[in-house]
Amino acid sequence: GSTVLAQTHRPRFHFSPKAHWINDPNGMVYYKGVYHLFCQYYPESSVWGPMHWVHATSKDMVHWQEQPVALYPDSLGYIFSGSAVADVNNTTGFGKNGQTPLVAIFTHHNPKLEKQKPEQVESQSLAYSLDEGKTWTKYAGNPVLSNPGITDFRDPKVRWYEAGKKWIMTLATKDRITFFSSPDLKSWSKESDFGSDAGAHGGVWECPDLFPLTHNGKTVWVLIVNINPGGPNGGSATQYFLGDFDGKAFKAYSKETKWMDFGPDNYAGVTFSNTGNRTVLMGWMNNWQYADKVPTSPWRGATTVPREMGLKAVGKELYLTSTPIKELNVLDEPGVSLKNLTVKDSYDLTAKTKKETSLFKLELTAPATADFSVVLANKQGNELVVGYDKKANTYYIDRSKSGKIDFEKGFGKRHTAPRLSADANLSMTLLADVASVELFADGGLTVMTEIFFPESDMTQLSIKSAQGIAISSLKLTPLNASQKEG
Ligand code: FRU
Repeated sequence: GSTVLAQTHRPRFHFSPKAHWINDPNGMVYYKGVYHLFCQYYPESSVWGPMHWVHATSKDMVHWQEQPVALYPDSLGYIFSGSAVADVNNTTGFGKNGQTPLVAIFTHHNPKLEKQKPEQVESQSLAYSLDEGKTWTKYAGNPVLSNPGITDFRDPKVRWYEAGKKWIMTLATKDRITFFSSPDLKSWSKESDFGSDAGAHGGVWECPDLFPLTHNGKTVWVLIVNINPGGPNGGSATQYFLGDFDGKAFKAYSKETKWMDFGPDNYAGVTFSNTGNRTVLMGWMNNWQYADKVPTSPWRGATTVPREMGLKAVGKELYLTSTPIKELNVLDEPGVSLKNLTVKDSYDLTAKTKKETSLFKLELTAPATADFSVVLANKQGNELVVGYDKKANTYYIDRSKSGKIDFEKGFGKRHTAPRLSADANLSMTLLADVASVELFADGGLTVMTEIFFPESDMTQLSIKSAQGIAISSLKLTPLNASQKEG
């Protein structure tokens, strides 16, 4: 496996295909001890093309094995994004002799209709597997939900709604979300619309998700809506709404947008199904603004780390939180822990670990009273800066000097995110994997995901503060991600 791993910018603990293009994660489902991930995939090139679903499996969501392509385009069109469920009650009747079918619900996108009948291009279809996800059969009755005349009509996310004993499909329909219900995944009735008068509308709405979380014993429904363009730092991003859902309609507590991730590189994120009380989301670690230009070869695209979804109140306001799943701790190697570290100007952490690594986890807490930054660097002088700006009360990631940035005007920027927490102390967990950083601040209240392409690996790490800062605690953990090839 070393040839694959040696490729420049290849992430080690994020899924990326051996070759060619991926975008959105699709069909994520847990079944019989295995996590299944599919992705939008074009097996003939490393730019977007006729969409397939590539398949990967994992026992821990950390180590992924790429599997053969699961779904190919057919006479109804390309296989666009969608979800998968374990139909444990065999409502579809696809199961034989008591088997539980895995059912994928996806968008058929018919390019032949784009010119003449744009409002009929997208419809929803099914495929099922009776061998635990190894092979998939398209349903003969496709499509199961025809297009009512809406040009963007896609990305079905389906879940079982126990209180109403029915399936609920959350679908992106151009500038809103439409909910449908079904007893058997085959016949669908429209329930309601949400969002034409709520949230951000700088671009088309795509890849929604609807799931319940519990806060102080109360059920809160989360509606995820991906939007492209119109994100807080340009291009693609993920907004969300919190509210109530009664099996028919979603009622938001507020019409205002909240952002799940303020970084430029977490898009089309949705959650796994069949994970019990856990809610785990993965996104595509990229942005449509430059996804087809990022300097990697022979593959393009990777997923984010899986994130546990939660809720947290700040005063009276409730927010969605994202934190790295605990399974990622299998990668931890012995590191260094420091207490009450006073940094004035610059403090070199690399020397402390006696180990150069572009794969690490950095966790720190500090009073939110002064500017400081964490700087990743290499011998070429490339720098990736993650910091806190006291006056603006923002976190930021600056990749303007991070290496290769010329492939797209606007890639080499400094991005900011508001600090939402009101705590006196701030906390940061930073995951670095060769060509990406994922910042989880204040227990996942403010999140930023960002990719970058240094001329050689970033192996130097330091903390900088011109003003001076007293860091209460700091832990640097090198990560061992010598992944086996699938
Ligand atoms: C989101 C998206 C989806 C669509 C897919 C096509 O990134 O545009 O709406 O189903 O990608 O590849």
